[in-house]
Amino acid sequence: MPKPFLNRKFSAGDLMTDLLHLIKSRRSVRRYKEKAVSRETILQILDVARWAPTGGNLQPWRFVVVTDPRLKEEIGRGARFYFLKSHHVSEVPVLIVICGDTRKSDWYKIDCSLAGENLMIAAHALGLGSCWIGIYDEERVKEILNIPDHFAVVGLVTLGYPAEIPKPPPRLDLEEVTSLNSFTPGKASGLVSRSMKAGPLSVMGKVTGILLRPIGRILEKLKGSPRGG
Ligand SMILES: Cc1cc2nc3c(=O)[nH]c(=O)nc-3n(C[C@H](O)[C@H](O)[C@H](O)COP(=O)(O)O)c2cc1C
Repeated sequence: MPKPFLNRKFSAGDLMTDLLHLIKSRRSVRRYKEKAVSRETILQILDVARWAPTGGNLQPWRFVVVTDPRLKEEIGRGARFYFLKSHHVSEVPVLIVICGDTRKSDWYKIDCSLAGENLMIAAHALGLGSCWIGIYDEERVKEILNIPDHFAVVGLVTLGYPAEIPKPPPRLDLEEVTSLNSFTPGKASGLVSRSMKAGPLSVMGKVTGILLRPIGRILEKLKGSPRGG
């Protein structure tokens, strides 16, 4: 995990290398230290979140910062999919609930998701860990936090000082997820040369993908068809 670097001086080359490394080394952290996160740090992170691009620059978001242990516990109760429970929701020092204004923009889901990535990268830059939480009881979260009807809960993000440095989960090969000038299924990327091909981790990636796909489909069905645009 890179050292917090926002206050360091950079040359242009350093900045680029560090930024690329920062993005690739961010991990979903699920165990946190009890150490509190200061209000300044939370605001610094949310300030970066709100610089994400939005359709028509409408910025249809609201970030609800939850630090009250009772509220985190209540929200955490609904953060489960059968036996898969995200315990870190109740245990983390800070929980950020990202809400999207469904009246303001049809793009609220995309806008809020982009803000979420900014948020997680900023947290990582400051030495904090985070994890996007997609499984939760939306109606219950809205009730607990008094979120108005026309706002949707797009995601939760756990935030705190990491008590673990997770190993990078594998990614699909570049050649499998890219193509040049037309959508070519399979491995005919046309962009990736042999030297860029991924190593043994790619096999793990495929196996994980195959195993997780049915769970993703079930989750989509349970959550219903997407609202808005
Ligand atoms: C839409 C979405 C939903 C997710 N939901 C959960 C969740 O409910 N609980 C959890 O622990 N992690 C969740 N994650 C984190 C993913 O498991 C994690 O990003 C993925 O395994 C890749 O690991 P990495 O973030 O360390 O690269 C979610 C991530 C996304 C983008």
